[in-house]
Amino acid sequence: MLRTHTCGELRIENVNEHVILAGWVQRIRDKGGMIWIDLRDRYGITQLIFDESKTHPDVIKKMRTVGREYVVQAAGKVLERFSKNDRIPTGDIEIFIDEFIILNPAKVPPFTIEDDTDGGEDLRMKYRYLDLRRRPVRENLLLRHRIMQETRNYFSGLHFAEIETPFLIKSTPEGARDFVVPSRINPGEFYALPQSPQTFKQLLMVSGFDRYFQIVKCFRDEDLRADRQPEFTQIDCEMAFVTQEDILATFEGLVKHLFRSIKNIELEDFPVLNFNEAMRSYGSDKPDIRFGMKFVELNDLAKGRGFNVFDQAELVVGICAPGEAERTRKQLDELTDFVKKPQIGANGLVTIKYNIDGSIKSTIDRFYTGDELKKWMEKFEAVPGDLVLVLAGKTSQTRKALSELRLKLGDELGLREKNTFAPLWVVDFPLLEWDEETKRYYAMHHPFTSPKLDQIDLLDTNPGQVMANSYDMVINGVELGGGSIRIHDRKVQQKMFDVLGFTQEEAKRQFGFLMDAFEYGAPPHGGIAFGLDRTCALFGGSDSIRDFIAFPKNNAGRDVMIDTPATISQEQLDELRLQLKKD
Ligand code: AMO
Repeated sequence: MLRTHTCGELRIENVNEHVILAGWVQRIRDKGGMIWIDLRDRYGITQLIFDESKTHPDVIKKMRTVGREYVVQAAGKVLERFSKNDRIPTGDIEIFIDEFIILNPAKVPPFTIEDDTDGGEDLRMKYRYLDLRRRPVRENLLLRHRIMQETRNYFSGLHFAEIETPFLIKSTPEGARDFVVPSRINPGEFYALPQSPQTFKQLLMVSGFDRYFQIVKCFRDEDLRADRQPEFTQIDCEMAFVTQEDILATFEGLVKHLFRSIKNIELEDFPVLNFNEAMRSYGSDKPDIRFGMKFVELNDLAKGRGFNVFDQAELVVGICAPGEAERTRKQLDELTDFVKKPQIGANGLVTIKYNIDGSIKSTIDRFYTGDELKKWMEKFEAVPGDLVLVLAGKTSQTRKALSELRLKLGDELGLREKNTFAPLWVVDFPLLEWDEETKRYYAMHHPFTSPKLDQIDLLDTNPGQVMANSYDMVINGVELGGGSIRIHDRKVQQKMFDVLGFTQEEAKRQFGFLMDAFEYGAPPHGGIAFGLDRTCALFGGSDSIRDFIAFPKNNAGRDVMIDTPATISQEQLDELRLQLKKD
C-alpha cells in the first residue's frame, strides 16, 4: 500500500497511529536540527517532521535531497503539534517520519505551486498540469464535478434519460461557424462538429424519449472572450408534451437545486421579464438585476426645447445613480470619456446633479429651466444627492451604451456583489433579426424555434414583428442558458426556412431528415441548454470560464500546452485529398 491516509485526513484523534502518506513536497523548512516538510495531495496538506537527534541518519540524508514537487512516500507516527495551525484541517497534528522514499524526483517548477502563484497566464497554460495542482484551480474543477453530479441527480430524479448524440455530424446553424472534419473514406466530404445537439435532441422527442438531457461538448468557431471557448460544455435538455410554463418550472428547479445543494442558498421564484421590457428598462437582454438604476425614457420631457442633440435623437434615456451628485467635474469627464469609447459608441453624456440642497446643476442648463429639470428628477424618482446621466441617439445604440454605463456604475458603487445572485427569465424574444449587411433575416435563436402560433400569418407580411416562444435564463447579467418551444409541424418548419432565405432544395438537403421526422408523429416539444462552463464560473465567483476548464484554449483559440492547432503532414493531406492554398 503506497498510503494509508490522504494528506487531508488526519486529525487529533489519529495521534499515535502509524501512518503512510504519499504526495508532493510543497515546502521544506530546515531549521538546523528540525526539518518540516509540507506534503500535499488533492485532499490537503500534512506536516511531516524530522528531528536530526532522533530520526535515523539515512532518512535525514534522503530527505535532504528532495526539492519542491518531488513525489515522496513517508511513514511515521502521528503526533500532536506543539504549535497548532488553525488555517488547515490537519493543523493539530504532524507526522514524525521514520521511513522516507522518493517515488519520483521533480524539476524545479516554472512557477510556484501556491494559491497566489508568480506564474503568468501563458506560462500556467503551457504547464497546465502543474497549474492544476494549485488549490484554487483544483477546487474549481472539483466544483465543476459537483455541479455535473448534482445536475445528473436532479434529472434522474425526474426521469430524464441521459443520451449521447454524435460528434461527427452535419452543420447545425446556431449562428457561429462550424469546425469541420474531412472524411478520408468519402473524399471531398466533411463532417461538422456540433454547435449543439439541437436537431438530435428533437429527433429523440420524435422517438418518444420524452425527457432527455446530456452534458455535452459543443464546438463553435467564433471570436473568443472571457465567457466563450471554441469547445465548451452544455447541459442540454429537451422535453415533450410540455408548455413553456412547464419547461421554465423544470429548469428553474434545476438551478434552484444546484444553488441549494452546492451553495446552500435558497433562491426565490425567478422573475420573468419579456424581451421588450428588458431592453426598455435595462438596454440588455441579459440584465443584471442585482441592482436597480432602471432606464427612464425622457422623449416627452426632453424634446422640443431647442437642444439639438435631444431633438434629433430617436431616444433620450437616462439612469439615476443614487447618492452620486458629489462627483467632481473630473469624475464626470471620465464617465463622458467612457461612453465615448468606440466600443460604447455614444456621442456625449448629459449629467444632472440633484444637489443635497435641492438645487439642480446640469450640462444642459441653457435649454431647460430649473422647474423643468425638477420634473425630470420626479420622473427618475431621484432625491437630493442623486446624479442623473442621460444619453441620446438611435434607440438600440443608445440603450446599449447606457447599459454599459449602468454596469460600470454598478461596479463602481459596489452593487454587483459576487455572492448575491439575481436570476430571472427573459422571454418572448423576436423570432428573427434583420441583418443590414446581407439584407436578410436570421433566426434570433435558431431556425427550429416556434413562432408564437397566433402570429404565424405575420411571417408573410411582417416577419420582423413575429415573436418567438423562447426564453433565456440570466443570472447576474450572464446568459446562463437559452431555449425555446420548437416547431413540430413540417409546414411551419418549411415556412421558417423560406423566411430565412433557404430554397426548398437547400432546406431539404440540410434538414430533410428533421422535416421528414415531423411527418411520423412528432410530439409538441421544447427545451433549453445551459452553459456548464458559465454556470461553474458563476458559482465559483469568476468572470472567466477558462478557470473552470481543465485544459482550455487561449484567446487565439490555441492550446499552448499541446501546441495546437498545428499543421498536418503532406501524407495526411493527400489521404484526405486536401490541398492548401498558397497565399
Ligand atoms: P445557445 O446557443 O443559446 O442555445 O447556447 C446555450 C448556452 O450555451 C452557452 N454557450 C457558450 N459557453 C461557452 N462558450 C461558448 N462559445 C458558448 N456558446 C454558448 C451559453 C448559452 O446560454 N441549441 C440551443 C439550445 C436550445 O434551444 O435548447 C443552443 O445551443 O451559456
